[in-house]
This record gives sequence, structure tokens and C-alpha cells, in this order.
Amino acid sequence: MWELNKELIEDKVKNKGLVLGSEICFLETVDSTNRACKEMGRAGGKHGLAVISREQTAGRGRLGRGWTSNKNEGIYMSLLLRPESLLITKASLITLLTAMAVNNSIRKLTGLEAVIKWPNDIVVNGKKVCGILVEMSSRQNTLEYVVVGIGVNVNGETFPEELIEKATSLKKEKGSTVNMNDLAAAILEEFQNYFTKFIDNAGEFTFVEEYNAALINRNKTVRIIEGERECTGISLGINASGALLVKAGNNEILEIVSGEVQVRGLYGYV
Ligand code: BTN
Repeated sequence: MWELNKELIEDKVKNKGLVLGSEICFLETVDSTNRACKEMGRAGGKHGLAVISREQTAGRGRLGRGWTSNKNEGIYMSLLLRPESLLITKASLITLLTAMAVNNSIRKLTGLEAVIKWPNDIVVNGKKVCGILVEMSSRQNTLEYVVVGIGVNVNGETFPEELIEKATSLKKEKGSTVNMNDLAAAILEEFQNYFTKFIDNAGEFTFVEEYNAALINRNKTVRIIEGERECTGISLGINASGALLVKAGNNEILEIVSGEVQVRGLYGYV
């Protein structure tokens, strides 16, 4: 069975003894798993809750974009985290941990040479297969909860015209159907491993080398686009704050922080 299935994911989560995904809210369809998960966060949902849907009718992406979420073609999953001891200033690093977790899971499960495009796109053969949207809620300068939204294009075969150059699925790249339940469980396991180490180290990002080794836009010329502004430089990799270091034409090292910034290759998406 290749479609997402609550019991199959639950079994795998139990076998691996995971906290993340120990409670799963499984939906046939939803507007956005991030929207639903935030609602559960506000209502007191527990740390580790996973909201997983077979389809999203209004999937949300970064920078106010949408996320195409056709039925049974991908993993649309949001995790509710309550990292009580984590400083707000460290929370954005969760995005990078998620990228590493998904990247490793795709590599292990499919054998495809997945790579990370800063900050958190997963790319196979130059095209995007996964996007990550982390949202958080804070009160009086304390993190209340974090929602980690993960969208993986798994078994879709067609993409809207405007995405054909930029997006692909694991099935298209591998040439065969990928088991979505195995992949969802692998992502939960990998993410839990990174997240536990991160919290145990008080939110210190000890994965700089590992992240940079998986980074496609390292030592490459990139375009940094922020609204109307654009500049070009050589991307050197991230620092421990998660900023992308870019050597500009005048040899100045720019620290690019995520947010509203897009990073592109000189001629296209990577
Ligand atoms: C991006 O723009 O690259 C981020 C895309 C994130 C999509 C996922 S799908 C599951 C979760 N629910 C949403 O509405 N968005 C995220």
C-alpha cells in the first residue's frame, strides 16, 4: 500500500519508540495542515502531535505562496512542538534541522542524491521535491509552540505549467513509486534525532558542517533577491546562526538571514 495510512504510520512510530508522531491527527482532506496544527496548538495540543492529510485544498508555502497538494501524491504533514526551554531567537534554526532530516530520509529511502537549497528546500536533479514552512507562536517573549510544516512531492507525475521547470517528484526522479508511509516515519525519526540533540545542546546549532556538506548552493554564484533589491555573490555556506554567508563582489562577506529573502542560481532555480 503506497498511499498514506494512519495505522501503518502509527505502527512504525511505535516500533521506533518515537515521541514525534505518537499522536497523529489523520485527515482525508484539509485546507492546510499548518493552519489546522496551529489551531490545535492554540487549543493545548501536545508536543509531538502530527497532523497528516492526504490532500490540502489551500496548502501554504513560504513568502505567501501556495503549495500544490493533490490527493495521494505527497506527504502533507505538520508537527506541533513545544520546546519549552528554547529561546525564541533559536527557533528559526528548527527550519534547518527539518531540512537535514527530510534530506537524509529521502536519500536513505530512495537512493536519490537529494541536496538542500538554503534555507530549506530539498532538491533532486536541480528541481524541488520538498518545501518546509515553520511557524511559531510566542507570548511575553517565550515560545508557546512551533509548527513545522513539511510538504514532499512523492508520487505525483504532472505539475502545473508554471512549476514544470522548478518542481519534480521522487517518483519522477526514481522511476518508480515511493512508499509514503515509510518516508513519513523516516522523516519523524530523523527529525526527532536532530531535534533532541538540538534541545540537549540548549539550541546550539552543532550541525554546521553537516548542513553545509548537503548544501547545493555552496561555493556557487548566487543571486540574493529581497523584494526589489538583488545582488550577486559566491555562497560560502551557513554559520552557526543559520545565516548564509555570501562573498560579494567587493569581497565583503554578507550574512543573509532567511525571512523574505530568495536565493537563486545565476540562471535559474539552483
Ligand atoms: C515552501 O514554500 O517551500 C514551503 C512549503 C510548505 C508546504 C507544507 S505542506 C504541509 C504544511 N501545510 C501547509 O499549508 N504548508 C506546509
